[in-house]
Amino acid sequence: MLKKVNPFWKKFLQDLGFDEDVKNFVKKIKPPWKYIWLILFFTLLFNFTTVIQPLILAKLFELINSEKSIWLLNLIVLGGILLFLIRGVSQYFQGYLLAKASQEVLTEKRKEFIEIVFKQPVYVLERNHSGHLVSVVISNIAAIVSDLPGLIIGYINSIITLIFSLSWIFYKDVTLGFMTIFTLPALTFVLKHFFKKVENIAELIQQKISHLITGMNEVFRYMRVVKVFNREEFEKQRVFKLIDEYKNLQLRLARISMLQKPAAEFVASLSLIVITWYSGYLVIKGVLKPFDVIAYWGYVAISVSPITNLSASLFNTRVIFGYIKEFMKTLSSLNINEFDNSLYEYNQDIVFRGKITFDSVSFGYDENKILDKVSFTIYPGQKVAIIGKSGIGKSTLISLLVKFYKPIEGKIYIDDIDIEKINPNILRKNISILTQEIYLFNDSIFKNIEYSKQGASMDEIVEACKKAEIHDEIMSKKEGYNYVVMEDGKGLSGGQRQRIALARLFLKDSPIVILDEPTSALDKINTEKIVKSIFTYFKDKTVIIISHTIDVIKEVDRVFTIQDGKIIEQDKSLLQSKS
Ligand SMILES: Nc1ncnc2c1ncn2[C@@H]1O[C@H](COP(=O)(O)OP(=O)(O)OP(=O)(O)O)[C@@H](O)[C@H]1O
Ligand SMILES: [Mg+2]
Repeated sequence: MLKKVNPFWKKFLQDLGFDEDVKNFVKKIKPPWKYIWLILFFTLLFNFTTVIQPLILAKLFELINSEKSIWLLNLIVLGGILLFLIRGVSQYFQGYLLAKASQEVLTEKRKEFIEIVFKQPVYVLERNHSGHLVSVVISNIAAIVSDLPGLIIGYINSIITLIFSLSWIFYKDVTLGFMTIFTLPALTFVLKHFFKKVENIAELIQQKISHLITGMNEVFRYMRVVKVFNREEFEKQRVFKLIDEYKNLQLRLARISMLQKPAAEFVASLSLIVITWYSGYLVIKGVLKPFDVIAYWGYVAISVSPITNLSASLFNTRVIFGYIKEFMKTLSSLNINEFDNSLYEYNQDIVFRGKITFDSVSFGYDENKILDKVSFTIYPGQKVAIIGKSGIGKSTLISLLVKFYKPIEGKIYIDDIDIEKINPNILRKNISILTQEIYLFNDSIFKNIEYSKQGASMDEIVEACKKAEIHDEIMSKKEGYNYVVMEDGKGLSGGQRQRIALARLFLKDSPIVILDEPTSALDKINTEKIVKSIFTYFKDKTVIIISHTIDVIKEVDRVFTIQDGKIIEQDKSLLQSKS
């Protein structure tokens, strides 16, 4: 598209910050036409009431001069009242419908973005900070969409008034017309200067908001750590610094934006001064009637403000394009849809028997290899313990199995099907995981457990909780299952959280069960009870359990150790006699 326009405009659009990113963004906006037609109607009406004013004024002077009729004077004044009434009404509808249209687009864009976020695999999402994603939804999209319609109306208003006034002036006198527009080229130079200055500020502002949200979220969530290390002052200053940096950027933008308006106005006024002289000259020469001068001045007055408004609109466009660029940068990092059916052969529900095979699987988060050509097979119904020192790659192994991350080389099979060919939805239906860190939502205990099986009945949930040895403790709370867990699981003990998370797995009832340190927060008695539950109720399932607890090692069929990126199967009888 850029190639077809002439070089001057091409250069101008480039200075304005228009590029492929902006083009792609604009192309994807679905304008709410039902409002747009109405907005256009009221905008035209509003503009009509603007451009008609000088004509009425001139007519008024002419009439009171020639007719000397009070009756006519009154009529014109009444017409004036009606005109301003129409103006007010159209301004109201224009503004309200505009807000409505922009809210619709805003909401749609936000939902669209969230839709994209949910399609991303874990390894893509973990590259983006959650605070950044929040800031995109809350601030970045709003900054673009809320200002966009006002900007478009600004353009329409400026252009209509400009065209109307200029046509009239040209009609009256061509020389005058040229005098009015002679400042326009000078104005583009002024604007270019300001475009340069504003470059990147919009992007920086959005980045700063993202840092601010991220920083505050972290501090507010980890208040206990902050307090226990007496770091309130430090954290406060850290947040203050971000707030100040944000303020400085906003001020920089305000300085430039406030400067461009008087600069544009000054340049536009130059024509005014030249015209003053020339119109006076024309009156003296008898070319222009004195009444024409009144109307003419009215037009000059209303043509200066659309020129400066146009300049302000262009400046704001540059700012919005900056916001769009920052948005598109985030969007381009979220370019995968892990649930795209066309990527897989298996998109229909399958219930696996639970055979798991790793074939020469290697993996590292960066250049450091954590797993190096790891191979093993676990048969349906087997119970396997994985041991190995901290940070060696036990949890990583599990992340690969549920496709949170992809192996660098090698293949993983479930029931001899390459998991690359299985839609993650289907795969994860077959696997229950108790992650090492426990995630509970700020919702009732009931809802937290039901999370693993939507629509589960109270009886099912109670049964799962009994298996997880947590039912009695839930009942000892006044609200029982309706007890609302606070943010990050606060309000429950570490061991209670762990058992509630385990209850989710008993409820889900999938053929493969993975437990990452399921008893790490439990005392000896509870550990014994839980281990017994696990091996009783998951008897028919394939179970992988990361644990160094002797109660667990005793119960499993096989023990794997991870060491130097390799997996080694231990001789269980030897291990038992050693312990
Ligand atoms: N998302 C990640 N990005 C980069 N490196 C990571 C990531 N997660 C883990 N690591 C690194 O990978 C290595 C293996 O981590 P992993 O969590 O698998 O260890 P682990 O065996 O489960 O340890 P632990 O017993 O302490 O839970 C560690 O050195 C860790 O620092
Ligand atoms: Mg781990």
